[in-house]
Amino acid sequence: MLDPAGPEAENVAELSWIIFGTAGVITLGVFALLGVGLARRRRVRGPDGPSDERRSERWVVAGGIVLPVVVLAPIAALSVGILDANESPSSDDAVRVEVIGHQFWWEYRYPDLDVSTANELHLPVDRPVELTLRSDDVIHSFWVPPLAGKVDLVPGHENTLTFQVDEPGAYWGQCAEFCGVQHAKMRLLVIAETEDRFRDWLTEQRAPAEPGQDVDEGRELFASEGCASCHTIRGTDAEGVLGPELTHLADRRMLAANVIENTPENLRHWITDTWDVKDHVIMPPVPLTDAEVESIARYLESLG
Ligand code: CUA
Repeated sequence: MLDPAGPEAENVAELSWIIFGTAGVITLGVFALLGVGLARRRRVRGPDGPSDERRSERWVVAGGIVLPVVVLAPIAALSVGILDANESPSSDDAVRVEVIGHQFWWEYRYPDLDVSTANELHLPVDRPVELTLRSDDVIHSFWVPPLAGKVDLVPGHENTLTFQVDEPGAYWGQCAEFCGVQHAKMRLLVIAETEDRFRDWLTEQRAPAEPGQDVDEGRELFASEGCASCHTIRGTDAEGVLGPELTHLADRRMLAANVIENTPENLRHWITDTWDVKDHVIMPPVPLTDAEVESIARYLESLG
């Protein structure tokens, strides 16, 4: 959050430093007064007179009413100003993405670009991004600290988030609303890239899957063992919608909602021992022989 990569995140970081600085000064003031009070007690030790009482009342009014109003009013005004600034009006140039929260993964649809994917959000730099956020089950929260503030995904309600990324790079985030037993393993990964690279990525994603050679066995197992009833692989008969779509799984950096790296070993472990990686996710452990796991993994690895 304190290392912003776009104008909206910069606003948030700036506000954070102002609040942190103000709170710091007030904390120092309180401790200084406490020190003065303790030192005086030791000197006086007698019962308080009426003038002392009036003076303490003045301190209570100044410190308990005047100071909070004087400090909090400008900060509140500043926060509202930044909220307004971050709600930039819809722009023709903007990339629009629908974000759908699921227990425990992220679905992304680019309605104008005819692309859908899961868990890895690709965005171009230097262009406004407009996210529409909703949930398929419980409340989640989209939070990628270097890019923007936090916005909830609420069932039956649509929220929006507008921001821009200035620097190409990989940005990490985290579901920020407790949404069930695997809330912590619902991570966000945003890949911001130049316009050219983003266009290339779109072209790749739009294409249906082209499974490699000698993976027919894995492809058949994917259908017969139930994988296909939850996962879509465009260009094949697999059209399930309960789980993330896997059309170009081999291109993704991470697995299991960005919890483990997409390595051959991790992919096999995830298929074999799903609940060891993420306990009680909807994907049940499927009894498969080692040879079957190997076939399915090789099939998925061919989906570039
Ligand atoms: Cu989704 Cu927490």
